[in-house]
Amino acid sequence: MKVVLATHNAKKLAELRRLVAEQGTDLDILGLDDVAPYPEPAETERTFEGNALLKARACRNATGESALADDSGIEVDLLNNMPGVRSARWAGRDASDRQNLELLIAQLADTDPAERTGRFVAAVAFAAPDGTEHVLRATMEGRLVSAPRGEHGFGYDPIFVTDGQTRTNAELLPSEKDAISHRGKAVRAMLRWLADREG
Ligand code: IMP
Repeated sequence: MKVVLATHNAKKLAELRRLVAEQGTDLDILGLDDVAPYPEPAETERTFEGNALLKARACRNATGESALADDSGIEVDLLNNMPGVRSARWAGRDASDRQNLELLIAQLADTDPAERTGRFVAAVAFAAPDGTEHVLRATMEGRLVSAPRGEHGFGYDPIFVTDGQTRTNAELLPSEKDAISHRGKAVRAMLRWLADREG
């Protein structure tokens, strides 16, 4: 089966192809650079699931192919689950990862380390031309530290320590993080669901 992943991000495409190969699923993965351009929707929903579904539906409708899309971010308990769906734009519309990270660090200054709990969340949505839709989420629970550490990863990884770890996500090897990450878990669960559906 052919599936279009609604992203221009080469790393996300490579990751999905790796997980597909790992699982032995018979899927031919294309990205948005492999299909005719279409107006991509703004991420206007209030939930990760809503945004993932919005992107998968738009891709399915425009390409006529089965589509997958994801949405992810970080929830901080002390901030009432923010940045949440605003994670990528936390310090403003064109903010860099660095600016977003620095703003979150400043917002958590003078807070009790024991209360600095939170999670990364990823939602993955599938939409097929026959109208079938499926969306699921996975999380990576942990806590936030006040000083960034580590060179791997991206986004908020330098201040996030996953439960059971002492190293930040940015100090984990990419393969170590993939094995336990919110996105890894959500994508693997979606691939299992697709394999069962095909089977
Ligand atoms: P998306 O690509 O629209 O899903 O935006 C996700 C945003 O959430 C990124 O820009 C990061 O700020 C943050 N984020 C999501 N997953 C991770 C992760 O695994 N590590 C660090 N930051 C993440």
